[in-house]
Amino acid sequence: MHITTVCLHPEMVLDAFKGGVCGRALEAGVASLRCVNPRDFAAGPHRSVDDRPYGGGPGMVLSPEPLLAAVRAARAGAPGGAPVIFLTPQGGRFTQRRARELAAGPGMVLVAGRYEGIDERAVELEADEELSLGDFVLSGGELAACAVIDAVVRLLPGALGDDRSAEEESFSVGLLDFPQYTRPAVVEDREAPEVLLSGDHEQVRTWRLKQSLGRTWARRPELLSGRDLDERESRLLAEFQAEYDIKIRDAKDDQPH
Ligand SMILES: C[S@@+](CC[C@H](N)C(=O)[O-])C[C@H]1O[C@@H](n2cnc3c(N)ncnc32)[C@H](O)[C@@H]1O
Repeated sequence: MHITTVCLHPEMVLDAFKGGVCGRALEAGVASLRCVNPRDFAAGPHRSVDDRPYGGGPGMVLSPEPLLAAVRAARAGAPGGAPVIFLTPQGGRFTQRRARELAAGPGMVLVAGRYEGIDERAVELEADEELSLGDFVLSGGELAACAVIDAVVRLLPGALGDDRSAEEESFSVGLLDFPQYTRPAVVEDREAPEVLLSGDHEQVRTWRLKQSLGRTWARRPELLSGRDLDERESRLLAEFQAEYDIKIRDAKDDQPH
């Protein structure tokens, strides 16, 4: 997979992948990462890449010409079929599903904005897609690009120590992940669930599925809507809900009146 980021601060992106799972994967050649800087395409002695917004108002806007030249250079160097994705809080929400789709493709060109954003004509001319990390505003698209790169690269075969990790985590099967525990068995009077120490793999699988279903229901119920639970899943969720009700009641009883 070939990844190119068009951004004014390449060091932010390249430094982010100097270590960790994705850094190691990139070093091992699971994917390539390069940056194209619009400043290298800017004319004039100051190589200016921004200008005041037409119509007035605070801040600066990324000028279209150097950005277009940088995006086109990045596109030309990317494999055919690699989408050019502009990162913006106004884009469609980036999801695990989109990460999986991108991981199955030949690459991507990620375009990071700065200042008040990018001249709209550059977006119209070159964006195949606009993606947002969520309903908040970052000061620049480099961090957003890093998040997308990380989410995609870790899905590539060989990136994670055990490829099953990506199959079992949150959103991979439309559910949140189950809670994780490690040694010691007791921490400040809190015990790790006994079943996890039992060595009974079938029971562990059942417990984990129940927790995944229950957590999704309790924390992100919209993920369950439109999903048909089979008989076993429905039973496990009902068990979780009953235990959850008891826990809530106990917590209320413990509160001072
Ligand atoms: C300060 S923001 C510009 C925000 C723009 N004025 C707006 O309100 O839509 C500068 C750059 O950060 C990036 N950015 C900020 N928030 C983002 C988000 N939630 N998702 C993706 N990119 C984001 C974009 O590349 C954007 O061009």
